[in-house]
Amino acid sequence: MKSRLLLALLSSLAWLGTVQAADTSVKGAPEPVLRLCMNCHGVDGNSESPMIPRLAGQQADYVERQLMAYREQSRTNAAARNYMWGMAHMLSDDEIKQTAAWFARQKPQPAATTHADELVRRGDAAFHNGLPSKDVPACAACHGANGEGGPIAPRVAGQHENYLKVQLKVMATDERPAATAMQGFAKHLDQADIDALSAYLSGLH
Ligand code: HEC
Ligand code: HEC
Repeated sequence: MKSRLLLALLSSLAWLGTVQAADTSVKGAPEPVLRLCMNCHGVDGNSESPMIPRLAGQQADYVERQLMAYREQSRTNAAARNYMWGMAHMLSDDEIKQTAAWFARQKPQPAATTHADELVRRGDAAFHNGLPSKDVPACAACHGANGEGGPIAPRVAGQHENYLKVQLKVMATDERPAATAMQGFAKHLDQADIDALSAYLSGLH
C-alpha cells in the first residue's frame, strides 16, 4: 500500500514537472516547432550553434518565403540541402505560416561578440554607406538602419557571424535564385568586406 502511494506521488510529481517545463519555456509554440525546429534553432529562435541561423524576431514573410524555397528545393547551398529540404518537406502551408509567425514574435537575445573596433567600424561604414568604389549600395537602405529588416529585406542584426559569412558568399552564386536584390553586387564584396560586415552585424542588437 505504502509503495503504491509512493509510486502515485512520484508519477504525479513527474507529470507536474513536465507540465511546468512546457509551460515556462515553450508556451504557445506551434507543434512543428516543438517536434522539429527547436532541436536546432531553439524554441525561441535564438540558436546557439554558429552554423544555424537565428530566427528570433526575423520578418515573418521572409521566413515563409525561405521555407517555401526549401520545400520546392530552389535554395540549394549545401546546408540548405542537408538540413532544411527535409524539414520543409514535412510542413504544410498552414504550418509554414504558424512557425514563421512564432519565430517573428520571439525576442532576439544579444549575441556576445569580441571583435577589434577597427573591423567593426569598417563593417558599420560599409553597411550604412555602401562601398561606392565597388558599386555596392548601402545595406541599410534595404535592411534598415539597425539591421532589423522590414518589408523588403530580412533581419540581419545579431545573426551568427559564421552564417552571415557563408550566406554573403552564397549570394554571389546562383544557389539562392530568389535573392536577386543581392546578386548584382554580392560578387564585388571581397573577403575583408565580408569579414567586416559580418563582425559588425553579428554584434548588433
Ligand atoms: C537539424 C537542424 C535543423 C532543424 C531541425 C531545423 N533547421 Fe532550419 N536551418 C538549419 C540550418 C543548418 C540552416 C541554414 C541552411 C542554409 O544555409 O540555407 C537553417 C535555415 C533555416 C531558415 C532560413 C533562415 C534564414 O535566415 O534565411 C529557416 C526559415 C528555417 N531554417 C526554419 C526552420 C523551421 C521552421 C524548422 C522546423 C520545422 C527548422 N528550420 C528546423 C538547421 C535546422
Ligand atoms: C536592394 C535591397 C538590398 C540591399 C541594398 C542589400 N540587401 Fe541583403 N538582402 C536583400 C533581400 C531582399 C534579401 C533576401 C533575399 C531572399 O529572399 O533570398 C537579402 C538577404 C541578405 C542576407 C541573407 C540573410 C539570411 O538570413 O540568410 C544577408 C546576410 C544580407 N542580405 C546582407 C546584406 C549586406 C551586408 C548588404 C550590403 C553590402 C546588403 N545585404 C544589401 C536586400 C538587400
